[in-house]
Amino acid sequence: MGCRTSLASWQKLTSLAASVKQLHLKDLFNAQPQRFDQYSVSHSGILFDYSKNLVSSDVLKQLIALAEDCELSSWRDKMFSGEKINITEQRAVLHTALRGSESSELLVDGENVLPLVTEQLEKVATFVNAVRSGDWRGATGKVITDIVSIGVGGSNLGPQMVTEALSPNTQSPLNVHYVSNADGVQIATTLEKLNAETTLFVVSSKTFTTSETMTNANTAVNWLKSECLQRDAVSKHFVAVSTNIEKTTEFGIDPDNVFTMWDWVGGRFSLWSTIGLPIALYLGFDQFNQLLKGAHAADLHFKSAPFEQNIPVLMALLSLWNTTFMGAKAQAILPYDQSMHMLPAYLQQAEMESNGKSTTFAGEQVAYTSVPLIWGMTGINGQHAFYQYLHQGTTVVPADFIGSVTPRINVGKHHTVLMSNMFAQTEALMNGVTDEEVAAQLREKGADESEIESLVPHKVHQGNRPTTTILLDKIDAFHVGQLIALYEHKIFTQGILLDVCSFDQWGVELGKGLANAIQGELERGEFAIHDSSTTGLLNYFSKKRVEYSA
Ligand code: F6P
Repeated sequence: MGCRTSLASWQKLTSLAASVKQLHLKDLFNAQPQRFDQYSVSHSGILFDYSKNLVSSDVLKQLIALAEDCELSSWRDKMFSGEKINITEQRAVLHTALRGSESSELLVDGENVLPLVTEQLEKVATFVNAVRSGDWRGATGKVITDIVSIGVGGSNLGPQMVTEALSPNTQSPLNVHYVSNADGVQIATTLEKLNAETTLFVVSSKTFTTSETMTNANTAVNWLKSECLQRDAVSKHFVAVSTNIEKTTEFGIDPDNVFTMWDWVGGRFSLWSTIGLPIALYLGFDQFNQLLKGAHAADLHFKSAPFEQNIPVLMALLSLWNTTFMGAKAQAILPYDQSMHMLPAYLQQAEMESNGKSTTFAGEQVAYTSVPLIWGMTGINGQHAFYQYLHQGTTVVPADFIGSVTPRINVGKHHTVLMSNMFAQTEALMNGVTDEEVAAQLREKGADESEIESLVPHKVHQGNRPTTTILLDKIDAFHVGQLIALYEHKIFTQGILLDVCSFDQWGVELGKGLANAIQGELERGEFAIHDSSTTGLLNYFSKKRVEYSA
């Protein structure tokens, strides 16, 4: 890929950043009153307004030039056509194939993967209909009422986030519960409310070796057996989503009850695959299909829109500009909708597990800041928690504000109150409040001059904090699918611009391996040689455990 910093566009952006750092967003709006028209794009019911970012036409021109210098179009084609762009694991990256294709053939290692996708989708549809209609019965002949989805990371966050996003106003014959944590509390408190005879477990694990998931799955089997005592209970109450049929069989799951996926679907991009089974069970297959359609609309947009009008490309370029060139270290994700409360957590994994890296494709250390720290929570709650920092903290945190034109549930004036807050925040973060404005407001309230003098420094807001606003027509399956896929393509583009491989996660694998080793040591009560802190902690923990269990 070549060294990014030696590209002419990169160097021009570096010098542009030095001058743009002297500007204020307010001045850009004064100089260009049409910024909203110039710097917003809409596609299939999603408006993307990036006008409140510190970008000028010169900056955008160079950012687009950078995307071209990085051969983004050619990399995009490679991804969509199934080339093995996950270079460290030698895998294709084809989550896009799960949500529709314009051609009839897509080859991976000589095999057309499209019929495989159709086959699994049909299997999901049949199963979902059987469970939702009551045809699928538990071991004692009772209709299933509750689904417990066991999985972690990409095998949990996407399905749970989408389920939560679309649950308001959904009448489902099934309750869906998600268990991801290995702490024991989550599975215990979930199971205590349930009737084993009417509960179905979906164990989602691409590898079927993830220790947290297998620990929860084994606890679920034991609970089922202790509650139900039927010989064929597991086959009637457990299905799996995995690529590892050997392990699912070993676990005791009937091969007919295994929904498969492939190594060309990355965990954090997998909600469109059979990993989305809990979503389909909860919402019904038609709604799941709408989700896929929304994502496919985003795929088509990403493939065909010119970079200047291409939402995911712009998202990635803005992230790079704000982070790598302008020096931001974090980015906030602020959904103004309670049902989207898991979006920040979902995007944390999607972006940080993908691009939180410091090695280039060629195996060299990157010479720049890669992705920002992604964090956030629902906007209104955030306003009463950390927005103080966003407005007056010493670091600038660019933020994505996400809201909808139509609420999922219309209650009195609620949506107007909610969205007024969202619009007000982006305006305030951009404009800030000057000394003169603060003084004038205080004077109007009758404050004397010495009080004004002492209060002004505390009440001044510098403003000039970049924000992007994403407005969905509705929070429905189509638009949520589209929104997630836009972020996915942003992340892909960001990886190309940063010259990092977005589709592996060696940092996560490191922790997994060490945890397995330490678990063995704790179980045996014999510790290998660690540093003094780890040894001290293990000794303290083991000793106290014995004391507490005595
Ligand atoms: O979080 C790391 C990770 O490897 C993710 O990429 C993946 O989604 C998750 O663990 C769960 O893995 P599995 O689906 O194999 O249980």
